[in-house]
Amino acid sequence: MSTPAAAANQAASIKPHTGKLGIMIPGMGAVATTLIAGVEAIRRGIAKPIGSVSQMGHIRLGKRTENNSPLIKEFVDLAPLEDLVFTGWDIFGGNLYDAAKTAEVLDRETLEAIRPFLESIEPMPAVFDQHYVKRLTPKKTKTGKNKCDLANQIRNDIAEFKTKTDRQVMIWCGSTEIFMERSAVHESLTAFEKGLVDDDPGITPSMMYAWAALKEGIPFANGAPNLTVDIPALNELSKQMNAPICGKDFKTGQTFIKTVLAPAFKTRMLGVAGWYSTNILGNRDGEVLDDPESFKTKEESKLGVLDIILQPELYPELYKDLYHKVRINYYPPRGDNKEGWDNIDIFGWLGYPMQLKVDFLCRDSILAAPLALDLVLFMDLAARTDQLKGLGIQEWLSFYFKAPDSAKGVYPEHDLFIQSMKLKNTLRHIMGEDLITHLGLEYYEG
Ligand SMILES: NC(=O)c1ccc[n+]([C@@H]2O[C@H](COP(=O)([O-])OP(=O)(O)OC[C@H]3O[C@@H](n4cnc5c(N)ncnc54)[C@H](O)[C@@H]3O)[C@@H](O)[C@H]2O)c1
Repeated sequence: MSTPAAAANQAASIKPHTGKLGIMIPGMGAVATTLIAGVEAIRRGIAKPIGSVSQMGHIRLGKRTENNSPLIKEFVDLAPLEDLVFTGWDIFGGNLYDAAKTAEVLDRETLEAIRPFLESIEPMPAVFDQHYVKRLTPKKTKTGKNKCDLANQIRNDIAEFKTKTDRQVMIWCGSTEIFMERSAVHESLTAFEKGLVDDDPGITPSMMYAWAALKEGIPFANGAPNLTVDIPALNELSKQMNAPICGKDFKTGQTFIKTVLAPAFKTRMLGVAGWYSTNILGNRDGEVLDDPESFKTKEESKLGVLDIILQPELYPELYKDLYHKVRINYYPPRGDNKEGWDNIDIFGWLGYPMQLKVDFLCRDSILAAPLALDLVLFMDLAARTDQLKGLGIQEWLSFYFKAPDSAKGVYPEHDLFIQSMKLKNTLRHIMGEDLITHLGLEYYEG
Protein backbone atom coordinates (compact mmCIF):
# COMPACT_ATOMS: atom_id res chain seq x y z
CA MET A 1 0.00 0.00 0.00
CA SER A 2 1.28 3.46 -0.83
CA THR A 3 2.19 5.66 2.14
CA PRO A 4 1.92 9.44 2.10
CA ALA A 5 5.73 9.69 2.28
CA ALA A 6 6.19 7.36 -0.71
CA ALA A 7 3.62 9.32 -2.68
CA ALA A 8 5.32 12.60 -1.83
CA ASN A 9 8.71 11.20 -2.91
CA GLN A 10 7.36 9.98 -6.16
CA ALA A 11 5.57 13.23 -6.93
CA ALA A 12 8.82 15.05 -6.20
CA SER A 13 10.29 13.50 -9.34
CA ILE A 14 7.91 15.69 -11.36
CA LYS A 15 9.15 19.18 -12.06
CA PRO A 16 6.39 21.70 -11.27
CA HIS A 17 4.97 23.71 -14.15
CA THR A 18 5.99 27.34 -14.14
CA GLY A 19 5.38 30.10 -16.65
CA LYS A 20 3.99 29.83 -20.16
CA LEU A 21 3.50 26.59 -22.09
CA GLY A 22 4.01 27.19 -25.81
CA ILE A 23 2.00 24.98 -28.18
CA MET A 24 3.51 24.70 -31.67
CA ILE A 25 1.21 23.30 -34.36
CA PRO A 26 2.26 22.36 -37.88
CA GLY A 27 -1.04 22.49 -39.81
CA MET A 28 -3.45 25.16 -38.60
CA GLY A 29 -6.67 23.96 -40.22
CA ALA A 30 -9.93 22.68 -38.75
CA VAL A 31 -8.58 20.77 -35.73
CA ALA A 32 -5.99 23.36 -34.74
CA THR A 33 -8.34 26.35 -35.01
CA THR A 34 -11.08 24.49 -33.12
CA LEU A 35 -8.57 23.68 -30.38
CA ILE A 36 -7.21 27.22 -30.10
CA ALA A 37 -10.55 29.01 -30.38
CA GLY A 38 -12.00 26.52 -27.91
CA VAL A 39 -9.26 27.09 -25.33
CA GLU A 40 -9.77 30.84 -25.59
CA ALA A 41 -13.57 30.52 -25.29
CA ILE A 42 -13.12 28.32 -22.20
CA ARG A 43 -10.63 30.78 -20.68
CA ARG A 44 -13.22 33.52 -21.10
CA GLY A 45 -15.89 31.42 -19.46
CA ILE A 46 -18.14 31.28 -22.54
CA ALA A 47 -17.78 27.53 -23.11
CA LYS A 48 -16.92 24.29 -21.30
CA PRO A 49 -14.08 21.83 -22.07
CA ILE A 50 -16.44 18.96 -22.88
CA GLY A 51 -14.65 15.87 -24.17
CA SER A 52 -11.40 16.69 -22.39
CA VAL A 53 -10.35 14.06 -19.85
CA SER A 54 -7.61 16.33 -18.50
CA GLN A 55 -10.13 19.09 -17.72
CA MET A 56 -13.28 17.20 -16.73
CA GLY A 57 -12.10 13.72 -15.74
CA HIS A 58 -11.79 12.44 -12.18
CA ILE A 59 -9.45 9.69 -11.03
CA ARG A 60 -10.25 7.25 -8.24
CA LEU A 61 -7.54 6.82 -5.61
CA GLY A 62 -7.46 4.03 -3.04
CA LYS A 63 -10.36 1.74 -2.18
CA ARG A 64 -13.95 2.23 -3.33
CA THR A 65 -14.88 2.77 0.31
CA GLU A 66 -12.56 5.79 0.56
CA ASN A 67 -14.61 7.94 -1.81
CA ASN A 68 -11.52 9.77 -3.04
CA SER A 69 -11.79 10.79 -6.71
CA PRO A 70 -10.11 14.13 -7.35
CA LEU A 71 -10.14 15.89 -10.69
CA ILE A 72 -7.20 14.71 -12.80
CA LYS A 73 -6.00 18.28 -13.26
CA GLU A 74 -5.89 18.67 -9.48
CA PHE A 75 -4.23 15.31 -8.88
CA VAL A 76 -1.32 15.81 -11.32
CA ASP A 77 0.49 19.05 -12.03
CA LEU A 78 -0.87 20.03 -15.46
CA ALA A 79 -0.37 23.44 -17.02
CA PRO A 80 -3.51 25.54 -16.53
CA LEU A 81 -5.27 26.71 -19.70
CA GLU A 82 -4.42 30.33 -18.80
CA ASP A 83 -0.72 29.51 -19.40
CA LEU A 84 -1.11 28.21 -22.96
CA VAL A 85 0.34 30.24 -25.84
CA PHE A 86 -0.16 29.12 -29.44
CA THR A 87 1.82 29.34 -32.65
CA GLY A 88 2.27 27.18 -35.74
CA TRP A 89 2.83 26.84 -39.44
CA ASP A 90 0.58 26.52 -42.46
CA ILE A 91 0.77 26.75 -46.22
CA PHE A 92 -2.10 29.24 -46.44
CA GLY A 93 -1.67 32.89 -45.54
CA GLY A 94 -3.99 34.84 -43.27
CA ASN A 95 -4.67 34.66 -39.57
CA LEU A 96 -6.51 32.11 -37.48
CA TYR A 97 -9.80 34.00 -37.59
CA ASP A 98 -9.79 33.51 -41.39
CA ALA A 99 -8.65 29.90 -41.04
CA ALA A 100 -11.41 29.14 -38.51
CA LYS A 101 -14.00 30.75 -40.79
CA THR A 102 -12.80 28.63 -43.70
CA ALA A 103 -12.97 25.49 -41.56
CA GLU A 104 -16.65 26.20 -40.76
CA VAL A 105 -16.62 24.26 -37.50
CA LEU A 106 -17.49 26.92 -34.93
CA ASP A 107 -20.45 29.26 -35.23
CA ARG A 108 -20.12 32.93 -36.05
CA GLU A 109 -21.10 34.06 -32.57
CA THR A 110 -18.25 32.14 -30.91
CA LEU A 111 -15.72 33.32 -33.48
CA GLU A 112 -16.77 36.98 -33.20
CA ALA A 113 -16.48 36.83 -29.40
CA ILE A 114 -12.79 35.96 -29.67
CA ARG A 115 -12.00 37.54 -33.02
CA PRO A 116 -9.09 39.82 -31.95
CA PHE A 117 -7.39 36.89 -30.21
CA LEU A 118 -7.66 34.70 -33.32
CA GLU A 119 -6.55 37.55 -35.57
CA SER A 120 -3.42 37.96 -33.48
CA ILE A 121 -2.12 34.50 -34.46
CA GLU A 122 -0.68 34.12 -37.92
CA PRO A 123 0.83 30.81 -39.02
CA MET A 124 4.50 30.91 -40.03
CA PRO A 125 5.42 29.81 -43.58
CA ALA A 126 5.47 26.02 -43.75
CA VAL A 127 7.86 23.36 -44.89
CA PHE A 128 5.71 21.70 -47.53
CA ASP A 129 6.14 19.48 -50.58
CA GLN A 130 3.20 18.64 -52.80
CA HIS A 131 4.68 15.23 -53.48
CA TYR A 132 3.49 14.23 -49.98
CA VAL A 133 0.05 15.92 -50.02
CA LYS A 134 -1.20 15.96 -53.58
CA ARG A 135 -4.51 17.79 -53.22
CA LEU A 136 -3.19 21.04 -51.70
CA THR A 137 -1.60 23.97 -53.50
CA PRO A 138 0.50 26.05 -51.10
CA LYS A 139 0.57 29.84 -50.80
CA LYS A 140 3.22 30.40 -48.11
CA THR A 141 6.17 28.02 -47.83
CA LYS A 142 9.81 28.13 -46.86
CA THR A 143 12.54 27.62 -49.46
CA GLY A 144 15.92 26.11 -48.77
CA LYS A 145 18.81 24.32 -50.43
CA ASN A 146 17.90 20.90 -49.03
CA LYS A 147 15.75 19.18 -46.39
CA CYS A 148 18.39 19.80 -43.74
CA ASP A 149 18.32 23.52 -44.43
CA LEU A 150 14.50 23.53 -44.26
CA ALA A 151 14.41 21.54 -41.03
CA ASN A 152 16.93 23.96 -39.53
CA GLN A 153 14.65 26.86 -40.47
CA ILE A 154 11.97 25.17 -38.35
CA ARG A 155 14.51 24.95 -35.53
CA ASN A 156 15.07 28.70 -35.85
CA ASP A 157 11.31 29.31 -35.55
CA ILE A 158 11.28 27.14 -32.44
CA ALA A 159 14.27 28.97 -30.96
CA GLU A 160 12.46 32.28 -31.49
CA PHE A 161 9.29 30.94 -29.78
CA LYS A 162 11.43 29.69 -26.90
CA THR A 163 12.29 33.29 -26.07
CA LYS A 164 8.58 34.00 -25.49
CA THR A 165 7.56 30.85 -23.61
CA ASP A 166 8.98 28.68 -20.82
CA ARG A 167 8.24 25.18 -22.09
CA GLN A 168 7.02 23.96 -25.47
CA VAL A 169 5.15 21.02 -27.03
CA MET A 170 4.64 20.36 -30.74
CA ILE A 171 1.56 18.60 -32.10
CA TRP A 172 1.10 17.75 -35.79
CA CYS A 173 -2.39 18.74 -36.94
CA GLY A 174 -1.33 18.92 -40.59
CA SER A 175 -2.82 17.03 -43.50
CA THR A 176 -2.41 13.30 -43.99
CA GLU A 177 0.69 12.61 -46.04
CA ILE A 178 0.99 9.86 -48.66
CA PHE A 179 1.54 6.30 -47.49
CA MET A 180 5.17 5.69 -46.59
CA GLU A 181 6.87 2.47 -45.61
CA ARG A 182 9.94 2.33 -43.41
CA SER A 183 13.19 2.37 -45.35
CA ALA A 184 16.92 2.45 -44.58
CA VAL A 185 16.89 6.22 -43.95
CA HIS A 186 14.50 5.71 -41.00
CA GLU A 187 16.54 3.02 -39.28
CA SER A 188 18.99 5.21 -37.32
CA LEU A 189 19.50 8.83 -36.43
CA THR A 190 22.78 8.89 -38.38
CA ALA A 191 21.06 7.62 -41.53
CA PHE A 192 18.19 10.09 -41.02
CA GLU A 193 20.45 13.11 -40.60
CA LYS A 194 22.44 12.09 -43.69
CA GLY A 195 19.11 11.70 -45.50
CA LEU A 196 18.18 15.28 -44.59
CA VAL A 197 21.30 16.54 -46.35
CA ASP A 198 20.82 14.17 -49.31
CA ASP A 199 17.11 15.07 -49.75
CA ASP A 200 16.07 11.46 -49.23
CA PRO A 201 12.47 10.99 -50.49
CA GLY A 202 11.72 8.84 -47.40
CA ILE A 203 11.85 11.98 -45.25
CA THR A 204 8.48 13.76 -45.25
CA PRO A 205 7.74 17.30 -44.04
CA SER A 206 6.08 15.95 -40.88
CA MET A 207 9.31 14.10 -40.05
CA MET A 208 11.27 17.32 -40.54
CA TYR A 209 9.08 19.17 -38.03
CA ALA A 210 9.41 16.26 -35.61
CA TRP A 211 13.19 16.14 -35.99
CA ALA A 212 13.42 19.91 -35.40
CA ALA A 213 11.25 19.70 -32.28
CA LEU A 214 13.14 16.76 -30.79
CA LYS A 215 16.51 18.36 -31.56
CA GLU A 216 15.27 21.31 -29.52
CA GLY A 217 14.27 18.94 -26.69
CA ILE A 218 10.55 19.47 -27.33
CA PRO A 219 7.95 16.66 -27.10
CA PHE A 220 6.15 15.79 -30.34
CA ALA A 221 2.65 14.27 -30.76
CA ASN A 222 1.26 13.18 -34.11
CA GLY A 223 -2.47 13.64 -34.74
CA ALA A 224 -2.38 12.29 -38.31
CA PRO A 225 -1.79 8.74 -39.54
CA ASN A 226 1.59 9.60 -41.13
CA LEU A 227 4.61 7.49 -40.18
CA THR A 228 6.35 10.62 -38.77
CA VAL A 229 7.89 9.67 -35.39
CA ASP A 230 7.06 5.95 -35.67
CA ILE A 231 10.58 5.22 -36.93
CA PRO A 232 13.70 4.07 -35.05
CA ALA A 233 15.65 7.23 -35.98
CA LEU A 234 13.26 9.61 -34.24
CA ASN A 235 12.67 7.20 -31.38
CA GLU A 236 16.43 7.29 -30.81
CA LEU A 237 16.48 11.09 -30.91
CA SER A 238 13.50 11.28 -28.56
CA LYS A 239 15.28 9.16 -25.95
CA GLN A 240 18.56 10.98 -26.43
CA MET A 241 16.92 14.36 -25.84
CA ASN A 242 14.45 13.26 -23.11
CA ALA A 243 11.74 14.62 -25.41
CA PRO A 244 8.67 12.33 -25.41
CA ILE A 245 6.88 11.26 -28.60
CA CYS A 246 3.49 9.74 -29.32
CA GLY A 247 1.09 9.05 -32.19
CA LYS A 248 -0.65 8.37 -34.42
CA ASP A 249 -4.00 9.56 -35.75
CA PHE A 250 -6.53 11.04 -33.32
CA LYS A 251 -9.13 8.40 -32.40
CA THR A 252 -12.28 10.46 -32.83
CA GLY A 253 -15.27 9.07 -34.76
CA GLN A 254 -15.80 5.66 -36.25
CA THR A 255 -12.65 4.07 -34.83
CA PHE A 256 -13.50 5.38 -31.36
CA ILE A 257 -16.82 3.52 -31.53
CA LYS A 258 -15.17 0.48 -33.15
CA THR A 259 -12.73 0.14 -30.26
CA VAL A 260 -15.66 0.17 -27.85
CA LEU A 261 -17.84 -2.35 -29.72
CA ALA A 262 -15.18 -4.86 -30.80
CA PRO A 263 -13.99 -5.52 -27.21
CA ALA A 264 -17.66 -5.98 -26.21
CA PHE A 265 -18.19 -8.74 -28.79
CA LYS A 266 -14.90 -10.37 -27.93
CA THR A 267 -15.44 -10.30 -24.20
CA ARG A 268 -18.77 -12.15 -24.67
CA MET A 269 -17.23 -14.58 -27.21
CA LEU A 270 -19.56 -13.42 -29.99
CA GLY A 271 -18.27 -14.00 -33.51
CA VAL A 272 -17.85 -11.31 -36.18
CA ALA A 273 -18.27 -12.27 -39.83
CA GLY A 274 -17.97 -8.83 -41.35
CA TRP A 275 -17.54 -5.16 -40.51
CA TYR A 276 -18.26 -2.64 -43.21
CA SER A 277 -17.48 0.99 -42.34
CA THR A 278 -18.11 3.93 -44.60
CA ASN A 279 -18.01 7.70 -44.10
CA ILE A 280 -18.96 10.90 -45.85
CA LEU A 281 -17.17 14.11 -44.99
CA GLY A 282 -16.66 17.38 -46.79
CA ASN A 283 -13.89 19.28 -45.03
CA ARG A 284 -10.37 19.87 -46.32
CA ASP A 285 -9.23 16.68 -44.59
CA GLY A 286 -11.84 14.84 -46.69
CA GLU A 287 -10.51 16.52 -49.82
CA VAL A 288 -6.92 15.46 -49.01
CA LEU A 289 -8.10 11.91 -48.25
CA ASP A 290 -9.80 11.80 -51.64
CA ASP A 291 -6.30 11.27 -53.02
CA PRO A 292 -5.67 7.49 -53.04
CA GLU A 293 -2.11 7.85 -51.70
CA SER A 294 -3.21 9.83 -48.64
CA PHE A 295 -6.25 7.56 -48.19
CA LYS A 296 -3.95 4.54 -48.08
CA THR A 297 -2.21 6.04 -45.01
CA LYS A 298 -5.59 6.55 -43.30
CA GLU A 299 -6.86 3.13 -44.35
CA GLU A 300 -3.88 1.34 -42.81
CA SER A 301 -4.40 3.29 -39.60
CA LYS A 302 -8.11 2.37 -39.45
CA LEU A 303 -7.82 -1.29 -40.46
CA GLY A 304 -5.34 -2.45 -37.83
CA VAL A 305 -7.62 -2.19 -34.81
CA LEU A 306 -9.93 -5.20 -35.29
CA ASP A 307 -7.19 -7.77 -35.82
CA ILE A 308 -5.43 -6.71 -32.66
CA ILE A 309 -8.54 -6.49 -30.50
CA LEU A 310 -10.20 -9.69 -31.73
CA GLN A 311 -7.04 -11.87 -31.88
CA PRO A 312 -8.18 -14.23 -34.70
CA GLU A 313 -5.10 -16.38 -34.09
CA LEU A 314 -6.47 -17.25 -30.63
CA TYR A 315 -10.13 -17.39 -31.69
CA PRO A 316 -10.20 -18.73 -35.26
CA GLU A 317 -13.82 -19.98 -35.02
CA LEU A 318 -14.98 -16.49 -34.13
CA TYR A 319 -12.82 -14.09 -36.13
CA LYS A 320 -10.61 -15.86 -38.68
CA ASP A 321 -12.85 -15.10 -41.67
CA LEU A 322 -13.82 -11.57 -40.64
CA TYR A 323 -14.21 -9.30 -43.68
CA HIS A 324 -13.26 -5.73 -42.75
CA LYS A 325 -13.71 -2.81 -45.13
CA VAL A 326 -13.25 0.93 -44.53
CA ARG A 327 -14.31 3.66 -46.96
CA ILE A 328 -14.06 7.45 -46.79
CA ASN A 329 -16.01 9.45 -49.35
CA TYR A 330 -15.42 13.15 -49.94
CA TYR A 331 -18.83 14.82 -49.96
CA PRO A 332 -18.53 18.65 -49.74
CA PRO A 333 -22.10 19.53 -48.58
CA ARG A 334 -21.43 18.02 -45.12
CA GLY A 335 -18.28 20.03 -44.36
CA ASP A 336 -16.79 19.03 -41.00
CA ASN A 337 -19.98 17.21 -39.98
CA LYS A 338 -19.06 13.67 -40.82
CA GLU A 339 -21.49 10.79 -41.02
CA GLY A 340 -20.08 7.36 -40.39
CA TRP A 341 -22.02 4.13 -40.94
CA ASP A 342 -21.07 0.69 -39.73
CA ASN A 343 -22.76 -2.54 -40.68
CA ILE A 344 -21.57 -5.31 -38.40
CA ASP A 345 -22.46 -8.95 -39.05
CA ILE A 346 -22.06 -10.89 -35.85
CA PHE A 347 -23.02 -14.43 -34.81
CA GLY A 348 -23.92 -16.01 -31.52
CA TRP A 349 -24.89 -19.31 -29.82
CA LEU A 350 -24.78 -22.19 -32.33
CA GLY A 351 -23.68 -19.75 -35.05
CA TYR A 352 -26.99 -17.85 -35.44
CA PRO A 353 -26.39 -14.55 -37.29
CA MET A 354 -27.30 -11.08 -36.05
CA GLN A 355 -26.61 -7.54 -37.23
CA LEU A 356 -25.77 -4.24 -35.64
CA LYS A 357 -25.97 -0.90 -37.52
CA VAL A 358 -24.35 2.27 -36.31
CA ASP A 359 -24.99 5.70 -37.80
CA PHE A 360 -22.75 8.24 -36.10
CA LEU A 361 -23.53 11.83 -37.07
CA CYS A 362 -20.46 13.41 -35.58
CA ARG A 363 -18.45 16.58 -35.82
CA ASP A 364 -14.90 15.74 -36.69
CA SER A 365 -13.00 18.63 -35.17
CA ILE A 366 -15.33 18.97 -32.17
CA LEU A 367 -14.26 15.42 -31.28
CA ALA A 368 -10.59 15.98 -32.11
CA ALA A 369 -9.93 19.32 -30.34
CA PRO A 370 -10.22 18.01 -26.74
CA LEU A 371 -7.92 15.11 -27.61
CA ALA A 372 -5.32 17.55 -28.92
CA LEU A 373 -5.65 19.60 -25.73
CA ASP A 374 -5.18 16.57 -23.47
CA LEU A 375 -2.22 15.42 -25.52
CA VAL A 376 -0.29 18.67 -25.24
CA LEU A 377 -0.94 18.89 -21.49
CA PHE A 378 0.02 15.26 -20.84
CA MET A 379 3.08 15.47 -23.11
CA ASP A 380 4.23 18.51 -21.16
CA LEU A 381 3.70 16.53 -17.94
CA ALA A 382 5.69 13.60 -19.39
CA ALA A 383 8.59 15.91 -20.26
CA ARG A 384 8.66 17.11 -16.63
CA THR A 385 8.44 13.60 -15.15
CA ASP A 386 11.70 11.71 -14.49
CA GLN A 387 10.08 8.30 -14.98
CA LEU A 388 8.55 9.17 -18.35
CA LYS A 389 10.72 11.68 -20.17
CA GLY A 390 13.45 9.25 -21.27
CA LEU A 391 11.12 6.50 -22.51
CA GLY A 392 10.61 7.81 -26.04
CA ILE A 393 7.12 6.58 -26.98
CA GLN A 394 4.46 7.44 -24.38
CA GLU A 395 2.32 4.36 -24.80
CA TRP A 396 0.08 5.41 -21.90
CA LEU A 397 -1.37 8.02 -24.28
CA SER A 398 -2.56 5.38 -26.78
CA PHE A 399 -6.08 6.22 -25.49
CA TYR A 400 -6.00 9.13 -27.94
CA PHE A 401 -4.88 7.31 -31.09
CA LYS A 402 -6.24 5.07 -33.82
CA ALA A 403 -2.85 3.48 -34.49
CA PRO A 404 -0.87 3.88 -31.27
CA ASP A 405 2.91 3.80 -31.54
CA SER A 406 4.37 1.12 -29.30
CA ALA A 407 7.74 -0.39 -28.43
CA LYS A 408 9.39 -2.76 -30.90
CA GLY A 409 7.94 -6.25 -30.53
CA VAL A 410 4.94 -5.07 -28.48
CA TYR A 411 1.56 -4.92 -30.18
CA PRO A 412 -0.39 -1.72 -29.54
CA GLU A 413 -3.36 -1.77 -27.18
CA HIS A 414 -6.58 -0.68 -28.97
CA ASP A 415 -9.38 -1.45 -26.50
CA LEU A 416 -10.55 1.99 -25.34
CA PHE A 417 -11.13 0.89 -21.75
CA ILE A 418 -7.77 -0.83 -21.41
CA GLN A 419 -6.22 2.34 -22.83
CA SER A 420 -8.13 4.45 -20.30
CA MET A 421 -6.98 2.21 -17.43
CA LYS A 422 -3.40 2.39 -18.69
CA LEU A 423 -3.57 6.19 -18.76
CA LYS A 424 -5.01 6.47 -15.27
CA ASN A 425 -2.70 3.86 -13.78
CA THR A 426 0.28 5.72 -15.25
CA LEU A 427 -0.88 8.88 -13.52
CA ARG A 428 -1.32 6.95 -10.24
CA HIS A 429 2.12 5.38 -10.71
CA ILE A 430 4.00 8.64 -11.25
CA MET A 431 2.23 10.10 -8.22
CA GLY A 432 3.17 7.13 -6.00
CA GLU A 433 -0.44 5.97 -5.56
CA ASP A 434 -1.57 2.33 -5.57
CA LEU A 435 -2.58 1.03 -8.99
CA ILE A 436 -6.18 -0.02 -9.35
CA THR A 437 -6.47 -3.65 -10.47
CA HIS A 438 -10.24 -4.06 -9.89
CA LEU A 439 -9.54 -7.29 -7.99
CA GLY A 440 -11.66 -6.20 -5.05
CA LEU A 441 -11.42 -9.37 -2.87
CA GLU A 442 -10.49 -7.26 0.12
CA TYR A 443 -14.06 -5.96 0.42
CA TYR A 444 -15.24 -9.53 1.17
CA GLU A 445 -12.40 -10.88 3.30
CA GLY A 446 -12.32 -11.10 7.11
N1 LIG B 1 -10.72 15.87 -37.24
C1 LIG B 1 -10.60 14.64 -36.85
O1 LIG B 1 -11.50 14.09 -36.29
C2 LIG B 1 -9.34 13.91 -37.12
C3 LIG B 1 -9.22 12.64 -36.60
C4 LIG B 1 -8.06 11.93 -36.79
C5 LIG B 1 -7.03 12.50 -37.49
N2 LIG B 1 -7.17 13.73 -38.03
C6 LIG B 1 -6.05 14.24 -38.80
O2 LIG B 1 -5.66 15.49 -38.31
C7 LIG B 1 -5.13 16.24 -39.39
C8 LIG B 1 -5.79 17.60 -39.40
O3 LIG B 1 -7.17 17.47 -39.70
P1 LIG B 1 -8.00 18.77 -40.08
O4 LIG B 1 -9.42 18.34 -40.15
O5 LIG B 1 -7.63 19.90 -39.21
O6 LIG B 1 -7.47 19.04 -41.56
P2 LIG B 1 -7.35 20.45 -42.31
O7 LIG B 1 -7.17 20.13 -43.75
O8 LIG B 1 -8.46 21.37 -41.95
O9 LIG B 1 -6.02 21.07 -41.72
C9 LIG B 1 -4.76 20.58 -42.03
C10 LIG B 1 -3.88 21.77 -42.30
O10 LIG B 1 -2.55 21.31 -42.48
C11 LIG B 1 -1.93 22.16 -43.40
N3 LIG B 1 -0.71 21.51 -43.86
C12 LIG B 1 -0.58 20.45 -44.69
N4 LIG B 1 0.73 20.15 -44.83
C13 LIG B 1 1.42 21.02 -44.07
C14 LIG B 1 2.79 21.20 -43.80
N5 LIG B 1 3.72 20.44 -44.36
N6 LIG B 1 3.14 22.19 -42.93
C15 LIG B 1 2.21 22.99 -42.35
N7 LIG B 1 0.90 22.88 -42.59
C16 LIG B 1 0.51 21.89 -43.44
C17 LIG B 1 -3.00 22.39 -44.44
O11 LIG B 1 -2.75 23.56 -45.19
C18 LIG B 1 -4.25 22.53 -43.57
O12 LIG B 1 -4.53 23.87 -43.25
C19 LIG B 1 -5.37 15.42 -40.65
O13 LIG B 1 -4.22 14.71 -40.98
C20 LIG B 1 -6.44 14.47 -40.24
O14 LIG B 1 -6.43 13.28 -40.98
C21 LIG B 1 -8.29 14.46 -37.84
